[in-house]
Amino acid sequence: MESSTVKTDRTEDPKIFRQKMLDWYDLHRRALPWRALKGQKSDPYHVWLSEIMLQQTTVQAVIPYFLKFVKRWHDVHDLANADNDVLMAEWAGLGYYARARNLHKCAKLISSEYGGVFPSEEEELKKLPGIGDYTAAAIRSIAFNEPSVVVDGNVERVMARFHAIDTPFPKGKNIAKEFAARYANDFSNSPADYAQSLMDLGATICTPKSPVCSLCPINQNCIAYNKGGAELFPKKEPKKVLPHKFGYVYWVTNDAGDVLVHKRPDKGMLGGMLGLPTTDWLIEKAALSHSGFNNIVSSENYIRHVFTHFSLDLFLFKAKINNLNSMEDDFYFMPPDEIDVEKFPTLFKKAIRAF
Ligand code: ADE
Repeated sequence: MESSTVKTDRTEDPKIFRQKMLDWYDLHRRALPWRALKGQKSDPYHVWLSEIMLQQTTVQAVIPYFLKFVKRWHDVHDLANADNDVLMAEWAGLGYYARARNLHKCAKLISSEYGGVFPSEEEELKKLPGIGDYTAAAIRSIAFNEPSVVVDGNVERVMARFHAIDTPFPKGKNIAKEFAARYANDFSNSPADYAQSLMDLGATICTPKSPVCSLCPINQNCIAYNKGGAELFPKKEPKKVLPHKFGYVYWVTNDAGDVLVHKRPDKGMLGGMLGLPTTDWLIEKAALSHSGFNNIVSSENYIRHVFTHFSLDLFLFKAKINNLNSMEDDFYFMPPDEIDVEKFPTLFKKAIRAF
């Protein structure tokens, strides 16, 4: 691949680069529950499930969820047949809930249209819900040991340092990707191990903070290291300040002491998840007004939560209501001892615990 942005004089011979990575991986690969043991084939169901969970989420956070899912749903047919509410409840706490909705849709398609067999071509994989460029490439290489260019945040960082990419991220990510493609271009052997070797190097040696360059198998030709500062790369655009929003959240009870919960609509924030009733979340605190409950009393408390694109303060109120005639469908009463906080996303866990 020729490109005006990639300087060829800085590129190490791809064969040598790959061999150094593969030799290192042979000795230092992480044992992860979705990974095949050395020399064995991985299970595409495990690879797909883990890659969806790992989108925007750390390996440490994913491991218990992955283990819980494969214990409950042994293969893609099992997952396809899962009750959606149960699946969403099992996902609670992992965040980015559109992933769970797409996971279920994808499992149903693979089970019914593909006979339970995942396709191995990136173009086919990308037609499936929840699978974009990165995930398609990761599944192709890791599950099927077929060549592809797998570039996650770890790989971007390794490339940014190895080549001392001056263009700040996120713009510089394209350049990192071009370099990554250059090394992946020598498709001669072990695409699965090679892809995972870069991820593991980024996660254990070429870490965002305090990289351990002395142990790195490719430090000899790493420009950032040889200039004296791997941690100076990737360069970053100054962070934008997140908008801040406000809302009210309610602990609503009836005369029997049951608590009102809300199955949130599929579209929108925390879509398809359980929640407590809230107002809309607004930038203007003064524009908030109460929903139509009775006996609304402030708890003189609030919870704060940070989403990717905004932060949110929800002020806590207790309230009463006896009949749900005026409410939309997805609200229902639950005895308080049946409320399992683990089934709620983190925002509402915080609220329930505060109430
Ligand atoms: N991050 C994303 N996919 C990964 C994988 N397969 N192994 C380790 N870290 C990852």
